[in-house]
Amino acid sequence: MKKIVVALSAAIALMSGSAFAAGDAAAGKAKFGSICASCHGMNGEGMGIFPKLSGKPADKTAALLKDYKAGKTVGANTAMMAPQAASLSDADIDNLAAYIATLK
Ligand code: HEC
Repeated sequence: MKKIVVALSAAIALMSGSAFAAGDAAAGKAKFGSICASCHGMNGEGMGIFPKLSGKPADKTAALLKDYKAGKTVGANTAMMAPQAASLSDADIDNLAAYIATLK
């Protein structure tokens, strides 16, 4: 019986890992602190022309970062943000989006 419970919880952990937490928030946090916080604030709170990022669902943030990376115009200040996204890998984007979703 105990074995079944262990196997089940492992299966659930695997499933929820792939379905709900594609990104690694801990890895995202490190990158956010070194690259993004200087403009968007330590907690993604934003300031002036730098948009607030906190509270945005991971899929929304990831989609925006992919748009900047692809060279699409997002807002009036796209030219400031596009170079920040250009060097991010898809994994970086997922990790950052997962971390940003944890910010309040
Ligand atoms: C040099 C300052 C700067 C840095 C560094 C920077 N950003 Fe930005 N970011 C901006 C500006 C300015 C905008 C608004 C651009 C626009 O008008 O589309 C923006 C927009 C965004 C948006 C879209 C927000 C929205 O709701 O439209 C996201 C998401 C974002 N940044 C994430 C990040 C992440 C993640 C990093 C770190 C990899 C980062 N930014 C680093 C300046 C910066």
